[in-house]
Amino acid sequence: MGARSLRTVFFLIAVAILAFASPAYAFDETTSTAGDWATCGECHLPGAMAGTGTRWGPHGGYTATTHACEACHTLHDAPTDFNLLPGETIYATCMTCHDGTSTIGEGVYGAIAGRGLNVASRHGIETTTVIPGGSASTGGSSVGTFAGPGGKLTCSDCHSPHGNNCVAPFYGERQRSYRWGIMTLQTQNRLLKQRPGNATTATPTYGSDWCLTCHQGRASTLSATHNHPAESLATTTTPFTYNNVARLVTGANATTTTLGPLGANNGGYLMPFPRTPQQAGHAPICQQCHEDARNVGSLSATGNAGTVSPYLVTSADGRVASDNPRFQNFPHETTSYRMLVEATATAYYDDLCLNCHPVQQLP
Ligand code: HEC
Ligand code: HEC
Ligand code: HEC
Ligand code: HEC
Ligand code: HEC
Ligand code: HEC
Ligand code: HEC
Repeated sequence: MGARSLRTVFFLIAVAILAFASPAYAFDETTSTAGDWATCGECHLPGAMAGTGTRWGPHGGYTATTHACEACHTLHDAPTDFNLLPGETIYATCMTCHDGTSTIGEGVYGAIAGRGLNVASRHGIETTTVIPGGSASTGGSSVGTFAGPGGKLTCSDCHSPHGNNCVAPFYGERQRSYRWGIMTLQTQNRLLKQRPGNATTATPTYGSDWCLTCHQGRASTLSATHNHPAESLATTTTPFTYNNVARLVTGANATTTTLGPLGANNGGYLMPFPRTPQQAGHAPICQQCHEDARNVGSLSATGNAGTVSPYLVTSADGRVASDNPRFQNFPHETTSYRMLVEATATAYYDDLCLNCHPVQQLP
């Protein structure tokens, strides 16, 4: 499809949406400082909103006839000397469009505070060089050399602004806009770099191996330091990943699993004992313990079955307190200790362990 017809498709969608919603944007236009944003396309093209796999906005799909570069780079009279970008730093640049930190809380950062709650754990931006669990030899912290000022962790350590060399697309669970209501969820790459933090090894799929590029001291097979088993290329040749895990089916006391994405389904967090045939021999991936806080359900009294607490998201950015998970911001910010799926803000309890280790199983 050419730029012109893409633009037409976009325009028709925008008109259709505008017909029943007030014309406000999915970011806080009162604090956005980049451009004049006369049209939706200034931000949303060359990506489109036509459907799954197309919603990447200005981050890629560049051709000779698209003009997305200027959404971020000003070639003359740029407001900063940093890569001709609108912000002094990567963070400031991303925030010109993705700012959710004001009270409206409509971004991957800011939604929790926007709902009046406290952030309990996070990947802080442009605040630290220290990687907890980053040392493969001690399991303790290491110091990273990241892309933010002073070598601190920033957005582009995990994301490619140009959508280049990214992981395989996966099904995510976040609603991107409150203004435009509940939309179809996206199978996209989320601009996740195959080499986060300039890793030497490329990780083509989002799962444990992707996290391990920075948190090297949290792998299963280290000689001097020991961790809870985590499925990765170090433990098996075809590990489960975020887009492919064995999920317990819904219904009371279920005993069977199906393979599918961890996203938008709470069945991936329970493992009855004995393990189902699909789960047997597989350790959990990092995201089966570290994800947005939610009630995942529980195993039966005997532990050989489990009842999944259904996935339910009825509004964006945590506006409905009973949604499960309420927020969909992992790994940016979460409401629980160490970004654990079940924990309070300051500690985790046996509740987490009992999702997979029924008392009867213990020796
Ligand atoms: C200043 C840039 C900007 C402008 C202008 C803009 N948007 Fe957006 N829009 C965004 C960003 C950024 C997101 C994603 C927010 C996020 O993920 O936190 C988004 C998300 C959306 C979504 C959610 C899509 C999805 O994948 O679920 C819709 C729908 C949308 N915008 C419609 C519009 C329409 C219609 C217009 C014109 C009236 C418009 N936007 C103008 C930046 C913009
Ligand atoms: C969504 C915002 C955005 C868009 C759109 C965008 N860029 Fe960038 N660009 C960035 C950011 C952020 C950086 C700094 C990233 C980094 O160093 O990792 C950057 C860096 C660059 C650099 C410097 C790379 C280096 O090694 O120092 C070049 C060249 C560049 N962009 C060209 C382009 C071109 C050409 C286009 C259009 C085809 C484009 N950009 C579109 C955000 C954008
Ligand atoms: C000019 C406005 C603009 C800027 C600046 C911008 N973005 Fe975006 N971004 C968008 C729009 C628009 C979308 C698509 C939203 C949609 O349609 O759902 C998007 C989508 C994304 C996505 C989801 C991509 C996918 O595959 O689903 C990520 C991740 C993202 N942006 C990260 C960043 C980061 C990191 C920066 C800073 C380097 C940045 N953005 C700067 C406008 C912008
Ligand atoms: C680019 C490197 C990088 C990647 C990739 C990365 N992390 Fe981190 N992680 C960090 C850094 C740096 C911190 C410290 C952040 C801070 O102090 O704000 C951190 C902190 C954490 C924390 C502690 C948070 C807290 O506040 O207690 C957990 C848990 C964590 N990461 C898990 C993960 C998981 C799971 C993944 C994969 C989904 C992942 N990380 C991917 C660099 C990374
Ligand atoms: C430690 C790595 C890391 C850092 C740092 C990071 N992100 Fe992300 N981001 C991710 C991952 C992983 C996902 C995909 C999460 C999922 O869908 O489960 C994601 C998803 C997103 C999305 C898409 C969410 C959706 O609607 O599907 C946006 C937008 C985004 N990030 C923006 C940013 C911005 C802006 C920054 C900096 C202010 C940033 N990220 C910093 C790892 C990171
Ligand atoms: C079985 C559940 C489980 C799995 C799987 C798991 N973690 Fe954790 N992780 C935890 C718990 C519980 C804590 C909190 C430990 C504490 O603070 O006492 C934690 C803490 C962390 C921390 C915080 C600081 C530190 O290092 O102690 C990081 C970083 C981390 N995990 C990364 C990872 C990564 C990366 C993976 C995948 C390779 C992973 N975890 C797999 C349960 C798990
Ligand atoms: C998402 C499921 C899941 C959760 C949550 C979980 N585990 Fe595990 N755990 C496993 C699996 C799978 C194994 C591999 C052996 C098996 O199948 O039992 C394992 C193995 C273990 C082992 C044996 C380690 C070894 O090296 O042989 C211990 C001890 C353990 N878990 C303790 C815990 C504790 C304590 C918690 C709570 C903090 C916890 N687990 C949470 C799934 C989980």
